[in-house]
Amino acid sequence: MGNLEVWKIKHKNFFKKNPDGKIKHLLKYAILAPSTHNMQPWLFKVMKSSCVISYDPKLTLPQADAKGRDLYISLGCCIENLVIAAQYYNVFDSVNLFPKTGKYSVAEVKFKNLGKRTSENKKMKRLFSTITERVNSRGLFLKKTIKRSVVAQLLKLNTFSGLKLSLLEDGDQIIEMSKLTADGLRYAYKNPKFRKEMSGWVNSNLSSRNEGIPGYSLRMPFLLSLVFPTLVRNFNVGKQVGKINFVSMSSSSLVVVISANNDIKETWVNTGRLAERMMLFLQSNNVKTSIFVASVEMGDLYKKVQEITKTHLIPQFVFCAGYMGHNQKQTPRHPLETKLIS
Ligand SMILES: Cc1cc2nc3c(=O)[nH]c(=O)nc-3n(C[C@H](O)[C@H](O)[C@H](O)COP(=O)(O)O)c2cc1C
Repeated sequence: MGNLEVWKIKHKNFFKKNPDGKIKHLLKYAILAPSTHNMQPWLFKVMKSSCVISYDPKLTLPQADAKGRDLYISLGCCIENLVIAAQYYNVFDSVNLFPKTGKYSVAEVKFKNLGKRTSENKKMKRLFSTITERVNSRGLFLKKTIKRSVVAQLLKLNTFSGLKLSLLEDGDQIIEMSKLTADGLRYAYKNPKFRKEMSGWVNSNLSSRNEGIPGYSLRMPFLLSLVFPTLVRNFNVGKQVGKINFVSMSSSSLVVVISANNDIKETWVNTGRLAERMMLFLQSNNVKTSIFVASVEMGDLYKKVQEITKTHLIPQFVFCAGYMGHNQKQTPRHPLETKLIS
């Protein structure tokens, strides 16, 4: 089994540390963010009162993510975890996207009051404590609609001017989105290069790798998880994978589509920030979330997403939500120390 210790953080330890230790403590929350294929593409440079987040150029997905959109969305999720943790400890100052500190720099997150004894921000407690509980849940959702008050608050979380949220709750629209997702997966799996790339990021339930998606996270029985990477590499399992994703997604009560008026990396980072805040908010209200990006990533399918969401904006990210009767085990992470650069 890979490293799951990272999910256990003693949150009071923050107050015992010097400024450098405080920033490193905050980063323990940042690395728990979701990322495409659990690649964890982030690297951190700790400064005096800030942290520069960049991406590791070795960790890209030419087949699944040719444009790099999902890379920047993953980094946005990581940045948002860091922001939420800093807001909780009352040390957050600001985020500056794409600072001129290096070719691969994505953001500088600035902190304040690191040398002082700050108090905890009680208003942030639920969102903050959900960071260590969050999981990308797969499988069937229960037939139960999400509380109105929860859905209503989702719209308020969008403070990014260039981003638009579509909250699809109509059963027919959810089925249409699920069909597009299945179409996207069938399209992707037809390509042997995609399958080869994917097979490197799925692990058996016995694997001790700290990156990639373990079979249990895909709800795979033990024996199947052992052969799945080889299966994916050598056979086109797109039809089966598409069907499983269709069944799961179409059972959800809510599909969230984040769209934007452009397709640039700043927008992708902000999409990740918004998505992570929404997924944490939902999970803090016992609503499970599951990411499905095939309908916006593959071929021209995004045009059909635009029809369903009735917008000309470019769809960037899709996740669905609802209640589930099962809990899912979390996925491993590399220790923070391996992601620090000087
Ligand atoms: C940008 C992005 C795209 C993703 N796309 C998918 C997807 O299409 N299907 C899926 O099952 N999971 C998807 N995921 C979820 C990741 O596989 C998951 O976050 C990762 O394996 C880590 O697991 P965790 O979120 O439970 O910690 C995506 C995550 C991100 C951040």
